[in-house]
Amino acid sequence: MHRLRGRVPFWDPVIDEIDGRRIRVGDHWLIDFASCNYLGLDLEPEIMAAVPEYLARWGTHPSWCRLVGNPRLFTELEQALAELLGAEDTLLFPTVSHIHFSVLPALAGAGAVFVELRAHHTIHEGARMASTRGARVIRFREENLPGLARKLAASDRNPKVICVDGVNSMTGNGPPLAELTELARAYDALLYIDDAHGFGVLGERSADELSPYGSRGNGTVRHLGGDYDGLVLVGGLSKAYSSLLAFVACPPEIRHFLRIAAGPYTYSGPPPVASFATAQAGLRFNAIRGDVRRADLYRRTSRVLDGIHALGLETRNETGFPIIEVPLADPDLIEPLGTFLFNRGILATMVPYPIVPRRETGFRISVTAANTDAEIEELLRVIAAAADRFPLRRAADGPETGDG
Ligand SMILES: Cc1ncc(COP(=O)(O)O)c(C=O)c1O
Repeated sequence: MHRLRGRVPFWDPVIDEIDGRRIRVGDHWLIDFASCNYLGLDLEPEIMAAVPEYLARWGTHPSWCRLVGNPRLFTELEQALAELLGAEDTLLFPTVSHIHFSVLPALAGAGAVFVELRAHHTIHEGARMASTRGARVIRFREENLPGLARKLAASDRNPKVICVDGVNSMTGNGPPLAELTELARAYDALLYIDDAHGFGVLGERSADELSPYGSRGNGTVRHLGGDYDGLVLVGGLSKAYSSLLAFVACPPEIRHFLRIAAGPYTYSGPPPVASFATAQAGLRFNAIRGDVRRADLYRRTSRVLDGIHALGLETRNETGFPIIEVPLADPDLIEPLGTFLFNRGILATMVPYPIVPRRETGFRISVTAANTDAEIEELLRVIAAAADRFPLRRAADGPETGDG
């Protein structure tokens, strides 16, 4: 992975300018299918317009760590998020990574952290930090829940925390929430879910929903019909809400504990005021136009998925979530494939080993509501050309087994 840096155009590029979802790198224009600004709120004029008033009231940056001074910006947003989620309480941090690196070790203490193998890298890092404080880290696969049950039964450590992604950042798929909840309850474990991607896109189901993403974008737990009993939901606003903020949804007693035990509350600076402005404006937008925007996102994503299926290519996406990974049969061709896509004007997220297992090396497309239909058609033309030239994995090949 490190050898790609500086050697190939698609790795670590400097972006000089944006124009909608088109970006300029030097004198080369590309269409951006790597952003996770799913709802397109980063480009929404009414959200940008919310910033100056906040800056006039609060300055650019509060600068206090929260323990020293809590601008009302925090508590207002925490309340608004709790209401949207239908959770008892929330606690804000700057990023999801801050939460995994501090909240997870605090919750785990000297107990046991059960981490799903495919969970995001930052959860694994958080688990490693928990292990330096005495917790035992045990890995499991979501496909093998009886295996997890055996590991839970065999562990005499307490507390027990089970960590999974809400929406996996490579497959776009969700966890088996009902089964995990049952196991967590049976073994008195806390279920810890990273919903960095799902929050803002997926939401509660209803008969009159405008798309299979559900309504209100209030997160994976509501989408899958779960509740917050014995569950800590970690959500981010840096993807669907295009704002640097993240939250933990948890009961008041855990919130109180985290204010003392999670380092960033005491030691880290706050997110910028502009992020509070765009988050609040985003929530107002969500209440009025969010479902229509999500229906549009679903339609655009379905077009990409249909195109990929029509080409006979494999993708693990089973949900229609706007994350679509296309694997390469020969992982050693990642460099020429990435260069091909880049030169043909597509910015995708290239995912080499060890970001994913070797057999899943490929590229990831993330679709946003701000990608135009014409951009999506161009994407499909370039993928078709890539499929002619590179051994992209075919759906007919079937999944491989082994650890890669
Ligand atoms: C599933 C998941 N968790 C956590 C993160 C890190 O989030 P943050 O940028 O808020 O630290 C990401 C970032 O892409 C992610 O995809």
